[in-house]
Amino acid sequence: MNGRVAVITGAAHGLGRAYAVRLAEQGASVVVADLDGAGAKAVAEQITADGGRAHAVAVDVADEEATAAMAAEAVGAFGRIDVLVNNAAIFLTVAMARVPFDEITVADWDRMMAVNVRGTWLACRAVVPAMRERSYGKIVNVSSDTALKGSPSRVHYVASKSAILGLTRTLASELAPDGIRVNAIAPGIVLSEPDPTPERRTRAAASQLLAGALVPDDLVGTVAFLASAASDPITGQILAVNGGGYM
Ligand SMILES: NC(=O)c1ccc[n+]([C@@H]2O[C@H](COP(=O)([O-])OP(=O)(O)OC[C@H]3O[C@@H](n4cnc5c(N)ncnc54)[C@H](O)[C@@H]3O)[C@@H](O)[C@H]2O)c1
Repeated sequence: MNGRVAVITGAAHGLGRAYAVRLAEQGASVVVADLDGAGAKAVAEQITADGGRAHAVAVDVADEEATAAMAAEAVGAFGRIDVLVNNAAIFLTVAMARVPFDEITVADWDRMMAVNVRGTWLACRAVVPAMRERSYGKIVNVSSDTALKGSPSRVHYVASKSAILGLTRTLASELAPDGIRVNAIAPGIVLSEPDPTPERRTRAAASQLLAGALVPDDLVGTVAFLASAASDPITGQILAVNGGGYM
C-alpha cells in the first residue's frame, strides 16, 4: 500500500477502523471518513501518532454535497485518490432494527437504502473523477454474506447489501475502460463491537467452518489485496470472507 491514498468510509469504528489503521501501517495515506466526526478524528490522530499519514473527514455518505466534499478534502490532503473502501453502513454503531419484515417502518427502510446503497453510489461518484485522472483506481464495496444466503429479520439491511452486488458488477463494467477496478467483499459474522457478549462469540463461531470467530483484523488482508496492485486482474467479483460460513 506504500504511497497509495485510500478513502475509507465508516472508519471511526469496527471494521472500517481496522482497515484504516492497518492500511496506514502498510504505508497508505488514509482518509478516515465517518458520520461520527469526533471518532474519525480520534482514529486519524492515533494513526498519525503511530507514524502514519491520516486525515479525518466528517461525512454523511447519504448526502451528495458531503461526499463531494469528502473527495475534495482527500485530494486536498494527499493529492490524489487511489482507493475507496465503501464500508459505511447502518449496522452496529448506527444500529438497525432487527425485526420481522412487516414491522420495519418506511422511514427505517428509506434511511437504510439512503446510507447503504445511495451512500455507496455517491462515494463512488465523488472519487471517480480523481481516479480517472490517473486512469487507475480500486473500489472495494462492502456487502454481506447475508446477501448471498438470506437472513431472517432485517430485510431492509439484507436488501441493501444485495443491491451492492449489482452496483459492484455494473460499476466494474462501466469503469473498466478507465482502469478502475470495482470489487466487493461479503463478510460473515465479524465481532466488530468493542466487547462481544459470550452468546455472540458462540453464535459467530458456530456460523462458520473454520475455528474461531472472525475479528476485524481478519478482514484486513482481503481488503488490502483488493486495494493493491496484486489484484489488478480482478474486477466485478464478490469475495465472501466468512470462514467458510457460506459456499
Ligand atoms: N460485523 C459484521 O458481522 C459484518 C458482517 C457483514 C457485513 N458487515 C459490514 O461491514 C461494514 C462495517 O461493519 P461494522 O461491523 O464495523 O459496523 P459499524 O456499525 O461499527 O460500522 C459502520 C460505520 O459506518 C459509520 N456510519 C454509519 N452511518 C454513516 C453515514 N451515514 N455516513 C458515514 N458513516 C456512517 C458508523 O459510524 C460506523 O463507524 C458495514 O458495511 C457492515 O454492513 C459487517
